[in-house]
Amino acid sequence: MPFTIAIDGPAAAGKGTISKSVSAHFGFAHLDTGLLYRAVGAKVLAGAEPVAAAEALTPEDLKSDTLRTPEVAQAASKVAVIAEVRAALVAFQRAFALRDGGAVLDGRDIGTVICPEADVKLFVTASAEVRAERRFLELSAKGHSDTRADVLADVKARDARDMNRAEAPLKAAEDAVVIDTTDLDIEAAVAQAVQVIEARRSA
Ligand code: CDP
Repeated sequence: MPFTIAIDGPAAAGKGTISKSVSAHFGFAHLDTGLLYRAVGAKVLAGAEPVAAAEALTPEDLKSDTLRTPEVAQAASKVAVIAEVRAALVAFQRAFALRDGGAVLDGRDIGTVICPEADVKLFVTASAEVRAERRFLELSAKGHSDTRADVLADVKARDARDMNRAEAPLKAAEDAVVIDTTDLDIEAAVAQAVQVIEARRSA
């Protein structure tokens, strides 16, 4: 039986960590849809045309370890405003969502556009400063030299682009449960998510 969990929210809110923990907890498959846009962004940085790159995307392209850099994140949010790029990625995401055995998808438009019929919708958010601090620590641990100020500027620029675009803008679905992780550690955030999903599964 398909069971779809949609997790949306702004940059570095904790969607990825919550999605991984929730999918492991319930034994569901997980798709980080941001990687699709990052992979297209990386191809554009390498000289490709965005729509052609999105149409030709393969699972192999999602495995590159350069996709998590701030440069690729910016490129991703730039290609993500292009309607044809988004359209090229819809079928793959919807098929993934409806696979037997359950699926968790995280991104910006999962509850609003990709899976409006999702069984559970979560909107994970936190203050820009807290999100930037978490991303700064992640990037520093990987050896990136970006300063706190660089990372905060990146997060704010992407949020603005993601929220203000015409096509599938970042926003909480009307029936999403909002989890604000500003004052929550990861265990507490995951526990809240699991509680919401368990309640929905036994309803
Ligand atoms: O990990 P982080 O939250 O920083 O970003 P991400 O989820 O990897 O997404 C990178 C960029 O892809 C976002 O800033 C969005 O512009 C775009 N994106 C999107 O438009 N729709 C999605 N479903 C997922 C990502």
